[in-house]
Amino acid sequence: MEPLTPPQPVAEAAIRIDSHLSGTGQRTLADDVLDGLTRPFKELPPKHFYDARGAELFDRICELPEYYPTRAERAILTERAGDLAQLTDAVELVELGSGTAAKTRVLLDALDQAGTLARYVPMDVTERMVRDCAEELTEEYPGLQVHGVIGDFERHLGRIPQAAGRRVVAFLGGTIGNFPPGSRRRILREIAALLGPDDHLLMGTDLVKDPRVLEAAYDDDQGLTAEFNRNVLLVLNRELDAEFDPEDFDHVALFDSQHEWIEMRLRARREHTAMVRALDLPVHFDAGEEMRTEISAKFTRERLEADLHAAGLELVSWLTDPEALFALTLSRPASGTDESTGSGDAR
Ligand SMILES: C[S@@+](CC[C@H](N)C(=O)[O-])C[C@H]1O[C@@H](n2cnc3c(N)ncnc32)[C@H](O)[C@@H]1O
Repeated sequence: MEPLTPPQPVAEAAIRIDSHLSGTGQRTLADDVLDGLTRPFKELPPKHFYDARGAELFDRICELPEYYPTRAERAILTERAGDLAQLTDAVELVELGSGTAAKTRVLLDALDQAGTLARYVPMDVTERMVRDCAEELTEEYPGLQVHGVIGDFERHLGRIPQAAGRRVVAFLGGTIGNFPPGSRRRILREIAALLGPDDHLLMGTDLVKDPRVLEAAYDDDQGLTAEFNRNVLLVLNRELDAEFDPEDFDHVALFDSQHEWIEMRLRARREHTAMVRALDLPVHFDAGEEMRTEISAKFTRERLEADLHAAGLELVSWLTDPEALFALTLSRPASGTDESTGSGDAR
């Protein structure tokens, strides 16, 4: 007779993925198109760039010689990930707009080495990115739990799971710069609500610099950023049965020195009307008319500290690359004694 084996505890699955986009994703796109393409100055929010092709194009842009932000942010992370792991002592890393989590691995390595890391929670609107990244990371970091959230950080932050322990929320790549000042502070406040008293926000922001360097980063010689910009038209064609011809538009990148942000626009090469059939909406463009598709705000330390302060956060560390192109900031919920500026070991 076979000896009876005692029941084994069932191991918790390493991967869990929650999706909050099915069905509603298209509705938001429709609302944004109706709202943005019926204004005198047409505009679309940048989150719609990132279908599978857009996400792949963005990854290729990150490798371009002109696109310094990724290299600079990676350099800071490589230099300081050990310190960040020590300062935060994090059990859980939540990442907003996680993409392929390419740079995140530098941080995951440091937290892994520190022996504290138990769970990674990537959130992105691109389903494929979240799923692939969960598969890859559970292989690369044995024992790591990955709880992926396919969702929109403008609408679904409340769906981030309860913290599994001391938490770092990472918001890398300068993505916060895609929001104008008012919405930026609103979203920072919502992110701050994800933090307990011992938790931290790690945020990447691009810095104000020579406009020629900025404009080159958003208008590369290979034309990849132009392709990325026009990709939003293909998203509209596919998702809303629209009939935009990407060849009807030129890519434009310009630095607005008053607002200190880069704008990406699509400029109509000729007068034409494109139908968005799902909305029964004809969209007319004059020759030379421009539609804004992204803003990317560039920061100074003062502006960033003011934004953090307005969201109830205080700066812990200000880290830049040797050329001061990009900043990575660690902040935490303000202690209540209104002395956030330059306090503690901020540097
Ligand atoms: C500029 S890329 C940065 C990617 C990566 N974090 C990095 O640093 O390279 C922006 C990322 O945020 C995602 N994203 C943009 N808007 C979003 C939103 N509203 N909600 C969730 N993810 C969003 C995109 O799909 C993309 O992966």
